[in-house]
Amino acid sequence: MSLPTEPRKLIIDCDPGIDDAVAVTMALFDPRLEVVAVTAAAGNVGAEQATANLQALVACLDPPRLPRIGVAATDAALPARPYSMHGADGLGGIDLPRVPLHGGHASEKVIWEAIKAHPRQLTILALGPLTNVSRVLKRDPGIAELIGAVVICGGTAQGLGNATPVADFNFFSDPAAARHVLAEPITKTLVPLETTGQVVYDLDFLERLPREFTRAGRLLRPMLAHAFRAHRQLLGCEGIRLHDVAALVAATDPDLFERETVAADVETTGDLTAGMLVIDRRRNRVWRPNADLLVACDAVGVRDRVLKGLTAAGEAT
Ligand code: BDR
Ligand code: CA
Repeated sequence: MSLPTEPRKLIIDCDPGIDDAVAVTMALFDPRLEVVAVTAAAGNVGAEQATANLQALVACLDPPRLPRIGVAATDAALPARPYSMHGADGLGGIDLPRVPLHGGHASEKVIWEAIKAHPRQLTILALGPLTNVSRVLKRDPGIAELIGAVVICGGTAQGLGNATPVADFNFFSDPAAARHVLAEPITKTLVPLETTGQVVYDLDFLERLPREFTRAGRLLRPMLAHAFRAHRQLLGCEGIRLHDVAALVAATDPDLFERETVAADVETTGDLTAGMLVIDRRRNRVWRPNADLLVACDAVGVRDRVLKGLTAAGEAT
């Protein structure tokens, strides 16, 4: 008889964002996880909106265990973005009731305190620009060795970006932070765009979401309907990709992914290449290996996992 395993402690640092919101929904009702905190970062939307979205999401879902919520820093400058799939408010205009702020703490403080409270046990799932994680490491460099692992939704190893021709949105939004985190002595898993993008959801996904009378369904159905419309109008695609959701599955179900150990860095200055993930693939590689890159996934397995996770969120709400 196998002993029950302790749920894995997780912080989700995110910039909601529709795919961020779906990932948060799944994680909050996953019995294999203890979501210690969810922390906001500026990215898909500005700092105040990101914080407001995260607070509203948690309040609306009302999970059995309430995570701490971190407030996004308002001094992080974001580069201009040509278009957004997430709508002006980041959540497809679903008009969630705003929740008043009760003296929230800065995301970097919440992350720092959680790492200190759970040394070597916490996984940080970074679904937005790496601004907060970088700030925590700058504020207390010794903390790197207390972080269990970081799973990062970011980068493109094949030079097919979504923010620029060569950069994914998260690395493009704060290249210096991405470079800093990759250089730190932490166990890192990179989930790049071409791998998260292997999982495509067709229109029938909408039918399989939790029903409207559940809290999760009320939230997800209009948000994802917006995502389908935006993908059609802006990209000419009938199917959608939910990058952050695939990154969550990479953290919970790593066996669904193929990995390669790589030596990776991020370009910070190029006019055309800022935010580009650069991998040393030379035969006589000079850089030291510093991350696991997830190069492929079992797309059907990931999609099934997501449907199961969302069904569980529906049943619990
Ligand atoms: C990232 O882009 C954002 O729009 C998504 O939320 C995801 O985190 C992938 O590049
Ligand atoms: Ca995101």
